[in-house]
Amino acid sequence: MTDAKLRDLLSSLTPMARELDALPAGRPAPDDSYVKLNTNENPFPLPSIVMRSAIAALERPYLYPENDNVSLREAAAAAYGMSADHVMAGNGSSELLSLIYRAFLAPGDSIAMISPGFSFNRKLAMLQGAQFLEVRCNELGCLPIDDLLFGPAKHAKFILLANPNNPTGAFMPVAEIERLLTQCNQLVVLDEAYIDFAPENALHLVNRFSNVLVLRTFSKSYAAAGIRVGFAFGHPELIGRLRNIQNVFNMNVVGHAVGMSILQHRRAYYENHSHIKHERQRVSGALSDFGFSVMPSHANFLLARVPAGQDGRWWQSALESQKVLVASFPDDGLEDCIRVSIGTREQMDAFLTAVGSVRRGADRSS
Ligand SMILES: Cc1ncc(COP(=O)(O)O)c(C=O)c1O
Repeated sequence: MTDAKLRDLLSSLTPMARELDALPAGRPAPDDSYVKLNTNENPFPLPSIVMRSAIAALERPYLYPENDNVSLREAAAAAYGMSADHVMAGNGSSELLSLIYRAFLAPGDSIAMISPGFSFNRKLAMLQGAQFLEVRCNELGCLPIDDLLFGPAKHAKFILLANPNNPTGAFMPVAEIERLLTQCNQLVVLDEAYIDFAPENALHLVNRFSNVLVLRTFSKSYAAAGIRVGFAFGHPELIGRLRNIQNVFNMNVVGHAVGMSILQHRRAYYENHSHIKHERQRVSGALSDFGFSVMPSHANFLLARVPAGQDGRWWQSALESQKVLVASFPDDGLEDCIRVSIGTREQMDAFLTAVGSVRRGADRSS
């Protein structure tokens, strides 16, 4: 292809796609020598009964998965106490998020998100040519209802709340969400990706309010990030419209089988969730002893302000050189923070050892 042809092709991209540069080749995923605590996975093996369902699903790989995920939707509806027309299944909840953006936003529209929040949303808004309004919380865990109802966000097509929030781990009481739903007519997308690590959930609100969509994922609390299973729950009229614009065969047979099996065996995860909550507390205390200021978290990660005068990016690369991966947020007003996922006890010990060693190195050189 000549350069002139390529230039023509690139100029025929939509204005939104043109705004994004071509991605570079990218770095391969880190090998097993790294302790990976940067993307909030849950590093425990699947319960053996769930694992067996994944293997069984591979027996007839030449068949397409079930159209419209009917049995998976029925199983989710039964597990969560509603009817199947209230539920749709996604290739991870991020697929469902993108569908909501596609369904509701045209160029020039706006969407409001509690900030700092899950940054993938910014890209989804940009791809629709929509304005992304970030509404800041003055106090972690407080829902700024007045700002959402009376500020610029009142014109937003929908409001996005992650509860617990990522990357802060803050949790908003369900009564507050209910207050917002009562007072606003807009759609509220409630992303409950981390809800199994929190004190209460808001799924029941789907039966009372037609302006809420609740998202769930099996990537975090059910240790299946690589399998890609998510759900959206809402009024059948909304869910039916979203299903209508979904890709055919959006999930694969393994995701389908694992999803069904997890729904049946959710109790098998009880210990996993208790372990994570317990480790979260232990690591939070240890980080405070190292001079970090740790935000209270109701998720499977901690957001920690690094010791005074230091920088989150710097800590991220210092820990990476010790083979421990954490996340940093240089663009979200959290320049002095790192986020660490909670994994196994061994992983968290390795993390704390690396923190101690970086801390001593930093003290020596100051
Ligand atoms: C708040 C939030 N929502 C959604 C997702 C996406 O999860 P999934 O793996 O289901 O696509 C994440 C992943 O990190 C997240 O933090």
